[in-house]
Order: sequence, then C-alpha cells, then structure tokens
Amino acid sequence: MANIREEVKKYYGEIAIKVSQGSRGCCCGSNGCCGDSGSNSTIYSPEYLAGLPDEVIKASLGCANPIALANLQKGEIVLDLGSGGGIDALISSRFVGETGKVYGLDMTDEMLALAEKNKKRYGVTNVEFIKGYIEDIPLYDEVVDVITSNCVINLTENKETALREAYRVLKKGGRLAIADIVELKVIPDEIRKSVGMWVGCISGALSIQEYERILKKVGFTRIEITPVNIYTKEVIRDLAEDKNLGYIYSTLDESLLDGVFAGAHIKAYK
Ligand SMILES: C[S@@+](CC[C@H](N)C(=O)[O-])C[C@H]1O[C@@H](n2cnc3c(N)ncnc32)[C@H](O)[C@@H]1O
Repeated sequence: MANIREEVKKYYGEIAIKVSQGSRGCCCGSNGCCGDSGSNSTIYSPEYLAGLPDEVIKASLGCANPIALANLQKGEIVLDLGSGGGIDALISSRFVGETGKVYGLDMTDEMLALAEKNKKRYGVTNVEFIKGYIEDIPLYDEVVDVITSNCVINLTENKETALREAYRVLKKGGRLAIADIVELKVIPDEIRKSVGMWVGCISGALSIQEYERILKKVGFTRIEITPVNIYTKEVIRDLAEDKNLGYIYSTLDESLLDGVFAGAHIKAYK
C-alpha cells in the first residue's frame, strides 16, 4: 500500500503546487474538463459554484458533484474524504451554516495548504481541514452526519478499510454521499498496470457490483450507485495525453475503452 500511497501523494502534491501558482487542476476525467478549454465547473451546476472564488473552482479535481446527493441541512456535521483544494468542503459549509461544521480530510500537505488558502479566500469559519488517511480517520466513532468525497476512494488500494472507517465515524442513521469512478465493463490489463493512470483515478476503479458488495460488508444499507458521467474513448485519450501516457494509449484498442468508466453518485446509510 505504501508505494501507491506515496505515488498518489507525490502526484497530488505537485498538482496542488501548480494550482497554487495559478494553473487549473485537471479532474478525474469528467467530460471535457481536462482539455485546454475546459474547466471542472462542468460537474457543478451554477448554484453550487455561486460566490466561490475562482481559485477554489480551479482547484477542483472531482468527477461528479457529491453535494447534489447529500441533501445537507443546517447544523449538520460533514466529513469530506480527500478534500483536496477544498471545493466540496467549502460548498458544504454554506449548506450546514454557522451551527454546522465541515471537516476536510487529506493526506497531502500541499493540498492542505491550498485548502487553507482557499478557506481564507472564501472567508468561512465552520470548516476545518485535517491531515490524515481515509483508511485511518482521525475522528471518534459516530460523530459525523454526512460523509462526502469526490474521486478519492478509487485511489486507495484498501477500499474496504476506508469505507469501514467512513461507517465507523458516521452517526447511526448518517449517510454517505460520494462521487467516485466506477468500472462498467471489464478493463484491459494494460491499464491496470499503469500507475500513472491509477493516480488519474481510473485503474483503481471498482465495478458497481464490487462497490455494492464492500459497502454492504462494512454495514451500509439502502445503497444506490448511479453512473452520471460516462467516459467515452475521447475523454480517456485526453486523460492519457494530459498525463503524458499517450504512448501507452496508442498501443491499446480504443474500442475496448469506450464507456468502460463513469463518474458515479454513490449513496448509502448507516
Ligand atoms: C482526485 S483529488 C480530489 C480532491 C477533491 N475531492 C476535489 O474534488 O477536488 C484526490 C485527493 O485525495 C487525497 N487522497 C488520496 N488518497 C488519500 C488517502 N488514502 N487518504 C487521504 N487523502 C487521500 C489526495 O491527496 C487528493 O487531494
């Protein structure tokens, strides 16, 4: 696990530095956002982005909008797993209000620094970014109403541990409302072999059935997994090229890749 984790940390640390210097983050491949002209604002409808500083939006690296699923209420406590530059934590802060609280958890120092800067820019006081691993959440049992996450669970080799931890910190009746990449068809081995693609959120994706099995195993009920952004071969090619993996892509039969992955909404209850 340590090697993949270190690779992921290094990869996102470099992205955070680039974003801090003014570049746009490249998301996990939601349609069009990795091309030259795109922006990850495509995964959020305008009402979610209203009032957010540009820097926060540019730091977005997700694959769908988990807040649209979460039905957040004033006073609730939210934990965002793998909070990155902070977009979802900051959007959530508006919904839960001053009587609520949002924790953003991330393992990468550079991302935490970027999230702190973004929090200052947005001027909210009910968000706390904390350092740690999603596989070992530094919070007590049953303290959180809602877990959100955007394109992060696919990055860990130990998904069951991460989801068990999410279950542990949720209050009884609490909910999981996350966005993640899922695999809709069997994936060619060549892609799995590429750590570069892995850190781009794809090679670590679970099938819907496997995701459901793990969620059930750790205790979740009323599980719903809905693909919302299907990745065409063009999107996957853009992703590979963006990560300088075009040479690997060109050796693959692209018809096999068409529609293999999707950004999905995943909802479940404790
Ligand atoms: C694809 S980015 C998504 C960031 C953010 N959720 C967003 O939508 O912009 C993945 C983030 O998860 C963090 N991350 C990946 N694996 C993690 C782990 N095992 N524990 C904690 N954070 C992790 C990375 O540091 C990175 O900031």
